[in-house]
Amino acid sequence: MKIDLTGQTAVVTGGAHGIGLETARALRDCGARVVVADLAETREFPYLKLDVTDAAAVDAVFTELSNVDIVVANAGIGGEAPLDEQTPEQWAAIVAVNLTGVFHTVQAAARRMKARRRGAIVLTASTNSFDGERWLTAYNATKHGVLGILRTAANELGPHGIRINAVCPGFIRTRLTEEGFANPDYMREYARHLPLGRGGEPEEVARVIAFLASPLASYMTGAAVVIDGGQLAAKFGIWNDDNAHFVKDHWELK
Ligand SMILES: NC(=O)c1ccc[n+]([C@@H]2O[C@H](COP(=O)([O-])OP(=O)(O)OC[C@H]3O[C@@H](n4cnc5c(N)ncnc54)[C@H](O)[C@@H]3O)[C@@H](O)[C@H]2O)c1
Repeated sequence: MKIDLTGQTAVVTGGAHGIGLETARALRDCGARVVVADLAETREFPYLKLDVTDAAAVDAVFTELSNVDIVVANAGIGGEAPLDEQTPEQWAAIVAVNLTGVFHTVQAAARRMKARRRGAIVLTASTNSFDGERWLTAYNATKHGVLGILRTAANELGPHGIRINAVCPGFIRTRLTEEGFANPDYMREYARHLPLGRGGEPEEVARVIAFLASPLASYMTGAAVVIDGGQLAAKFGIWNDDNAHFVKDHWELK
């Protein structure tokens, strides 16, 4: 059994870096023609400069690329602030990319896909779609909201032969998290709460996105698939110095 996307065209928003870049690579490896739509440039893939906060620009991408089969709405930004210090500007910027940008992308994709009665959409949500990690009010609100888009779109698009699913990554090594990954004290404490004892790699998310986008996931729609090394399943810290060693950036049993 193999993921085969031969002959399919895929668009990945935020595909110039991180999870999006690895997703573009995974989809290409499965045979798809991949176009990256991002604010940042990439030379590795056919590229369209796109700001997902601009509805008309998102729509123009789909006009330019006729017959898009797979859309990965992945572009996103972070931003920390204590609840009582978050500025309206920071709140608005995060909502514009992470929530409204996903809405624009799903809407533009749905309009084209409905006409063809086929298509697969994958959203990048987060474990923060389910929890309330401190200092991330805006981020958490947008990632909860992405699941609202997911479930509503699944209801509306299913009858038209269009599937939509989400991945909910935990702590994944990208630009968004590089400071944390580079700090052993931070990693030691963070990974103590992860059953697998380590952060994740963007390829580990990309493989699941490729599966969800493929015919192998033909009976999946409206699903939010958690890829978090067990983080959401964990209640208390799992790893400690009695049972394990912390090595560089992960825990190993003694
Ligand atoms: N890294 C993690 O631990 C983690 C965990 C859960 C969810 N996520 C989500 O994964 C997605 C990808 O994040 P990442 O960690 O790969 O970060 P990243 O910064 O490496 O990649 C994000 C990409 O989105 C692009 N982008 C940002 N704003 C944009 C805009 N307005 N229009 C178009 N493109 C834009 C950036 O240029 C970049 O290429 C985000 O939605 C993020 O919230 C990440």
